[in-house]
Amino acid sequence: MTKQIFMTRRIPARAEEMLRGAGYGVTVSSKDGVLTRDELKKALAQAPYDAVVPLLTDTIDADMIAAMPPSVKIIASYSVGFNHIDIPKAKERGIVVTNTPEVLTATVAEHTVALILTLASRTAEGDRFIREGKFVGWEPMLLLGTDIKNKTLGLVGAGRIGSEVAGILYNGFGMKIVYYDTKKNEALEALCDAKHYTTYEEVLAQSDVVSIHVPLLPATHHLINKERLALMKKSALLVNTSRGPVVDELALVSALKAGTIRGAALDVFEFEPNITPELLTLQNVVVNPHLASATEETRTKMAELVATNIIEHLSGRTAPNALA
Ligand code: GLV
Repeated sequence: MTKQIFMTRRIPARAEEMLRGAGYGVTVSSKDGVLTRDELKKALAQAPYDAVVPLLTDTIDADMIAAMPPSVKIIASYSVGFNHIDIPKAKERGIVVTNTPEVLTATVAEHTVALILTLASRTAEGDRFIREGKFVGWEPMLLLGTDIKNKTLGLVGAGRIGSEVAGILYNGFGMKIVYYDTKKNEALEALCDAKHYTTYEEVLAQSDVVSIHVPLLPATHHLINKERLALMKKSALLVNTSRGPVVDELALVSALKAGTIRGAALDVFEFEPNITPELLTLQNVVVNPHLASATEETRTKMAELVATNIIEHLSGRTAPNALA
């Protein structure tokens, strides 16, 4: 019988091409938007699917896994993050879960650096200033930014993406690299002369730019809270391209308003797609709609990886990105 794949949303065509090329049937949700829980459950019940391809906007919790037909053998998420999937529950049902690591590392790192530079050089504010018709000529004190060359980058989480960000800013901007991670990253230390700290506090207190690269886990929820923001330099910039709930958004708003830190750039939000309204009233905030991996090349590679994981697993081999 033809193996059947269900995708909760259209992703780059490469995935479907590869899956159809392998002889599978592919059903893509016809809704142009995120399926509600009920819609997703209903869709999953339509056919004896062998594989499900969710996005990070689909909550695949225990209840959703229970709603999957018994035929499902793999959940191949079109994302590197996997906090939206209850992996132990999937495992209990004998379902393998995969993600899309590595292919997006460079792109997310570039995007992170873009956000840091945007914040430091105030280019988003400058853009708004002109569009609002306020530009009447060069002014000595207009929108003064801050340099990042030779300053200190503090990584909160030094895995693949954090390390790539460090590499760009160390080599291109001479930044000193300090990092918190549960593990020492010897490669990062060798490449960027990075210094490891075993507490967040030590990293936050000395950094001019703090960039967050931890996965969302119970232990990292609200990792950046009122107390930790208070430890940061008044001149510090905070950048988050990981997951929104790692930052307590209300505490961040208060810190930005009070001048506890200088600015923040956010690609992700605590209650995505909702954003704490006050954030949007602050000029020292740069916001992006969760775009960090969004290049044509990378999104296509992610689609390829989704298809590869499904094909390998359904062919009885090991899916290259199977999560423990
Ligand atoms: C994006 O946030 C991803 O997890 O791929």
